[in-house]
Amino acid sequence: MNPTTTGPATAPLTPAQGRSAQYDVFHAARGRSSVVAGLYAQAMGENYPVEVAASSSCDWPLLGLLTARLRLNPGQLLVDAGCGAGGIGLWLARALAVRLTAFDLSPIATAQATARRAHFLGPNADRAVFRVGELERTGLPDGCAHGIVCVDALGGATDRGAAVRELGRILAPGGRLVVTRALRRGAEPAWHEQADAAGLSLEHLDERPDEPAMWERLYELWIAHADQLRRELGASPAENMLREAHRMLPKARGRRAVVLTLRRPLSATSAQRAADRMTAPDRHPSDMPATSEETPQ
Ligand SMILES: C[S@@+](CC[C@H](N)C(=O)[O-])C[C@H]1O[C@@H](n2cnc3c(N)ncnc32)[C@H](O)[C@@H]1O
Repeated sequence: MNPTTTGPATAPLTPAQGRSAQYDVFHAARGRSSVVAGLYAQAMGENYPVEVAASSSCDWPLLGLLTARLRLNPGQLLVDAGCGAGGIGLWLARALAVRLTAFDLSPIATAQATARRAHFLGPNADRAVFRVGELERTGLPDGCAHGIVCVDALGGATDRGAAVRELGRILAPGGRLVVTRALRRGAEPAWHEQADAAGLSLEHLDERPDEPAMWERLYELWIAHADQLRRELGASPAENMLREAHRMLPKARGRRAVVLTLRRPLSATSAQRAADRMTAPDRHPSDMPATSEETPQ
């Protein structure tokens, strides 16, 4: 679901509370019915990772790309920022044997994610922690994350630059933030500036040329199944989805989808120590510890 298209907040709530309540309504409705997952599956075809059941453009190629770009080692800490119901972070935590801390604006989404831990991680369920948090104020300590994924959530930040700076703050030296972005074709994104301002460097820019066509198919399916969505999800979440579909469908073909990998540079001392370890006599590279001495466990 595209987070920019939810309806207006009710009066007594702060803007953040209002957005959180709207995402709650969507996640609760999605939890009650399999209709949304079924439409994502139809739109993505064989590329739909059933078990992950994301509310986003997350398909098998994206899971592969996240895995490859993060370059995590077992035991390291992954943060899933704007995790929704948690499928992406949990899938990566299991596949890469990493620890997971994930947060989302929606308490209902984080409760759903917590309930899915045992399915993905079995007896290691407590390797994953889900909490309510905001992209601009994660509440996580400096430099705690070896890797961060943020899939189709950055658009929900009131201030995207501030959100990237906050994610940069919690990234350990050498760690990577892998984030999906979508924009109008021909738009001039300020990615380098945003990365610089967060103390990060743009390591990779991967195009996702098939993604706009997937959104087009998905929005057409939502519109074609409008009555079923209203019946199974309830009027309010269904109308939010239909508003999004009608607003975005005409633009979908002119969109560009990318995945950015932003890296926090290794500090001078940790880079030097890594170089020393590589050149030390009687030391084979495979003897090296999985993490630099400065990255937290
Ligand atoms: C399109 S969904 C994607 C969820 C998940 N990443 C996935 O791919 O399934 C966007 C999510 O971002 C969350 N979100 C939106 N704005 C946020 C913010 N400012 N801080 C934290 N989470 C936010 C929403 O609650 C929602 O669960």
